[in-house]
Amino acid sequence: MSAVPERPETPEPRGVSRKNLLRAALGAGALPLLTGGGVALARDTTGTGGPLDPTPVCDDGDDPTPEQMEGPYFKPNSPLRTGLAGPGTPGTPLTVGGYVFDRGCRPLADVLLDFWQADDAGAYDNTGFRFRGHQFTTASGEFRLTTIVPGLYPGRTRHLHVKVQPPGGQVLTTQLYFPGEPRNATDALFDPALLMNVRDAGGGREATFDVVLAVGQGPGATTWAAGREYTTGDRVSYDGAAYRCLQSHRATAGWEPPRAPALWQRG
Ligand SMILES: [Fe+2]
Repeated sequence: MSAVPERPETPEPRGVSRKNLLRAALGAGALPLLTGGGVALARDTTGTGGPLDPTPVCDDGDDPTPEQMEGPYFKPNSPLRTGLAGPGTPGTPLTVGGYVFDRGCRPLADVLLDFWQADDAGAYDNTGFRFRGHQFTTASGEFRLTTIVPGLYPGRTRHLHVKVQPPGGQVLTTQLYFPGEPRNATDALFDPALLMNVRDAGGGREATFDVVLAVGQGPGATTWAAGREYTTGDRVSYDGAAYRCLQSHRATAGWEPPRAPALWQRG
């Protein structure tokens, strides 16, 4: 399995981002773990299904991955596993790989990803845990799922469900979509920002998608400081984590965000 080809490098007008540093490291072979899975940075790849409406480029301060409804088929307590299908499983083999980033484009380790999907016939297993499984991103922020292409069921286009949760953080529930699906045009839930890059590979399909969580320092965020006035909704960073102000107040020593959950919410 070879790495997904990358687009040619283009000059970065805003200077060197963390993403580009990661990309440069990949090119130099300094991070062999990142290239071993055959998944390059998903945002740098193109699928084979013609022009895509791609997921947004993960630059520093990128918009977070959109949220989508959970739907009726989520079940808690899925098994810890990266593979949802074996050699005898009916359906087209599919791998989904990518990274989870914060808004500053830093890869996030130990992020929980809980996947669930329909089987090849478009049915969910609501009594057991077929096609359900959770995993955690590696130290490099990478995840990789081995499964089959989910079948279609009435009223929806083809999709995967996933919940993504950083350690101690809020859960992002969303869905991932396949380019070139006729029903993408008629499914009211479909969002092109959630299209995976998909290509044919070895009798199956290989998809990539990078998740951007609304954590980390985004545009406008400032470092928390005692003595400052904060208004509900203000965003700050403190000790490397992002917080949102829940209640207007004047900051004072002892009310640092992690110590004042009534005033600050993480994420
Ligand atoms: Fe579904």
